[in-house]
Amino acid sequence: MSKLIPAIHDRRSDRHFANKPLEAEAVETLLEAFRWAPSSNNRQPWRVLIASSAEAQRAYDDALSAGNKQWATVAPLKMAIIGVPEEQPEKNGIQNYLLDLGMAMQNMMVQGYAMGLTVHAMAGLDGDKIAKAFNVPANAKVVAGLVAGHRGRVEDLIEEVRAKDLKPSTRKAIAEFTFRDNYGVAYE
Ligand SMILES: Cc1cc2nc3c(=O)[nH]c(=O)nc-3n(C[C@H](O)[C@H](O)[C@H](O)COP(=O)(O)O)c2cc1C
Repeated sequence: MSKLIPAIHDRRSDRHFANKPLEAEAVETLLEAFRWAPSSNNRQPWRVLIASSAEAQRAYDDALSAGNKQWATVAPLKMAIIGVPEEQPEKNGIQNYLLDLGMAMQNMMVQGYAMGLTVHAMAGLDGDKIAKAFNVPANAKVVAGLVAGHRGRVEDLIEEVRAKDLKPSTRKAIAEFTFRDNYGVAYE
């Protein structure tokens, strides 16, 4: 039986970042991982907006939820993940562009882990604020934030955030979400 690759099992959404920039080469590698994600019909309906200048980073930080402002502002790489729904039209009632974006985000998070970095996804980002500050057109949807950087020290986080980072990450057991023959009948 093959074993789970460590980057899938051990990757964590840590909240501590070193106060130093991320090298351009590392940023490029993260973007490479993102772009090699699968997407329905290979349509790649994604855009990544990087807040780079000091002014852009301020606008990005301003769009963070209160909870995320406690830690994500320190991250040197601040990204808004944007989808263009019309490039991946809804099919059978499913918004496939969101699946595509999620795949690409996970690719980047796993790649980041393998590089010794932290890449943290955030729903706590005000898409309307981002759209306004960064001129995102009406046909594009800000779906999530991703921040990345070198790992810092968990001890340097404020207590509330440190507690979140130190909390062990758990998952449902396979039998809780996998069914055999009938929905609700556990696959065991
Ligand atoms: C789409 C998405 C949105 C998330 N949004 C936030 C967020 O706004 N703030 C936060 O601290 N963590 C956020 N997370 C991180 C999750 O809380 C984390 O993945 C989950 O608790 C499992 O922990 P792990 O990634 O360390 O295994 C998000 C994760 C995903 C996939």
